[in-house]
Amino acid sequence: MANIIDGKAVAAAIKEEVKEEVTKLKKEGREVCLAVIQVGNNPASTVYVGNKKKACEYVGIKSLAYEIPEETTEEELLNLIEKLNDDNEVNGILVQLPLPEHIDEDKVIQAISPLKDVDGFHPMNVGNLSIGKKGFISCTPYGIIKLLERNNIETEGKHCVIIGRSNIVGKPMSMLLLRKNATVTIVHSRTKNIKELTKQADILIVAIGKPKFVNEEYVKDGAVVIDVGINRDENNKLCGDVDYEAVLDRVSAITPVPGGVGPMTIAMLMNNCVEAYYMQNE
Ligand code: GUN
Repeated sequence: MANIIDGKAVAAAIKEEVKEEVTKLKKEGREVCLAVIQVGNNPASTVYVGNKKKACEYVGIKSLAYEIPEETTEEELLNLIEKLNDDNEVNGILVQLPLPEHIDEDKVIQAISPLKDVDGFHPMNVGNLSIGKKGFISCTPYGIIKLLERNNIETEGKHCVIIGRSNIVGKPMSMLLLRKNATVTIVHSRTKNIKELTKQADILIVAIGKPKFVNEEYVKDGAVVIDVGINRDENNKLCGDVDYEAVLDRVSAITPVPGGVGPMTIAMLMNNCVEAYYMQNE
């Protein structure tokens, strides 16, 4: 029987730990604060930003919401970020992606102070991760590491295959797994023999945004499968990048969608906000 990895439970536990820490700080008269910026009203972004604000409220982190119009210029956005960088009350700054086309995403990410970059997207944090130095770690891959650790899934010496090479998931995931002494392979849209490689995986991590792309032909018997995808299937039902039913008999453990990796992302964002507070104040 496959172990169904309960991301909701692990995320809830991490949020409780963060809440405890924030409560302790509050008793000392100290407050953790996250600024969340959304440009325009992309419906998916509105849902994500809403969930982030709710999580802040739950753990006791103050959230400042900047919901600014689609027509905001790049300069206006950069000015807002500069103001928040200089505001000592603000510990974390998050700009929800994607941004409207007239705004250069890289420029915006680089404008955020690396000390307040709770998303872990700034090149300085990406660089620190790659050389094993302290810094903010992108929330989804960080959450996956916590999911593995808290389910006692060993990574040392294991062959981990990642499908997808995005800056937000695939690449930082590879760095984190290397740091935990795994052997790492990344496969992507131009890889010629994807199945051959994924079939060697002890741990298979799938982050490509294609509904039910991975079926039993991609998976070795007894593998651990981590599904990062959140898609809609032909019946408009939520599904992952993995065909869950097709691989379930084959795997030793798997994350469901929903309730697997998804809840971990926000839990780690809350964790990063407290880390930001300490980085700036100790
Ligand atoms: N858009 C999709 N995922 C993310 C994320 O983790 N952070 C931000 N800022 N935007 C996103």
